[in-house]
Amino acid sequence: MSTNIFWQESPIGKTERQKLLNQKGCVVWITGLSGSGKSTLACSLSRELYTRGKLSYILDGDNLRHGLNKDLGFKAEDRVENIRRVGEVAKLFADAGLICIASLISPYRKDRDASRDPKGLYKLARAGKIKGFTGIDDPYESPLNCEIELKEKEGECPSPVTMAEEVIAYLEAKG
Ligand code: PPS
Repeated sequence: MSTNIFWQESPIGKTERQKLLNQKGCVVWITGLSGSGKSTLACSLSRELYTRGKLSYILDGDNLRHGLNKDLGFKAEDRVENIRRVGEVAKLFADAGLICIASLISPYRKDRDASRDPKGLYKLARAGKIKGFTGIDDPYESPLNCEIELKEKEGECPSPVTMAEEVIAYLEAKG
């Protein structure tokens, strides 16, 4: 970090912004392999929150790579920088009073295997046509202490709405 830079306080605080919006700002970070349904869940959650009068904003890995992160690729150091930047942006959104839904692979911890391939990306990666694909020749490490784990129940994947409701129930329980 450069020297001689100083924090500038905002004239309106987070508490006041939250009061105005009648909600609490927070970050819901969705991690998972490519094609595991992160964006679907993010959209469903955002919609469900909207119907409850809560303002959210989605930070989608794929989308951010069109702008903010368009200088980044998929090498380990780029992914680290990608997550760092989005983490900082998410923090700003939460501070603004919004429910920020970050949906990125956020990888690193081996041993996951792909089960869905809606974009045909795993097929390409296995054929060697995409290098450094998460879960194929680049690792995905599942979190050790995630707050909510959304997974199949009795071999069935819950609907995006059901999963969104589970996340909302958790957020409500947390105030
Ligand atoms: S990361 O690992 O968190 O920095 O990735 P993220 O910013 O979430 O971007 C993931 C989307 O990029 C597409 N894509 C790849 N993913 C993984 N590995 C490689 N090499 C790769 N190349 C392109 C892919 O569409 C991911 O989208 P999702 O929505 O996760 O399927």
